[in-house]
Amino acid sequence: MYGGGMEIFMREIIIAPSILAADIANLGRDVKLSEEAGAKYLHIDIMDGHFVPNISYGPDVVKALRPLSNQVFDVHLMISDPLFYAERFAKAGADIITVHCETVSDYKDTADALHALGVKAGISVKPKTPASEIIDAVKYYDLILVMTVEPGFGGQSYIEEMNEKIALLREAIDKTGKDIDLEVDGGIGPKNIHMPLKAGANVIVAGSAVFKAEKPAQVIAEMKETKI
Ligand code: DX5
Ligand code: ZN
Repeated sequence: MYGGGMEIFMREIIIAPSILAADIANLGRDVKLSEEAGAKYLHIDIMDGHFVPNISYGPDVVKALRPLSNQVFDVHLMISDPLFYAERFAKAGADIITVHCETVSDYKDTADALHALGVKAGISVKPKTPASEIIDAVKYYDLILVMTVEPGFGGQSYIEEMNEKIALLREAIDKTGKDIDLEVDGGIGPKNIHMPLKAGANVIVAGSAVFKAEKPAQVIAEMKETKI
């Protein structure tokens, strides 16, 4: 058994490249590349043009990518009515479906509904939503996603004020005694990954830092090997 502090250093760093920043005309190639480079999760951003002011893609894209990769498909629903669409994403091959707390009326019912689809349940908080909003609901979920930029677009800057929120949610997760992922999303790359890691995150989403790099595989490897 390790003490609280020690566990932080023993935690495996999981990289979840966000295909929002990939070459959309070569999506399959980029997904395969990310798996070969050791990214255990693949982060798939779904935007409806309503919850966020941008539109990405739907379940058919998830379905098309599914046979190309054994990665954990981490589907981030930035949409206003996530439970209406969740089944389609589950059938398309999602392993984790994350919904935004700002769209949810009952945290337990929502987690139960996602679990009934045979997927892991995730809950996400926008930067301006405090940790206190979901702290009592953490126990129902398999993944907690802290947005470190305003959702909607890749390529923004990491909001450092989120470090404290990450730490609060890490504390809440540890209190449950359950193996719950703490994921961070937005503006993260090799230069600042130490911040969310130190605060207690274990799943790191990276879009631009990976796919806009000259050598994406090298960036993934570098991030995975970060020492804190
Ligand atoms: C933003 C998305 C992110 C985004 C991250 O709404 O949820 O997943 O793609 O991209 P970077 O890493 O470029 O900030
Ligand atoms: Zn995302």
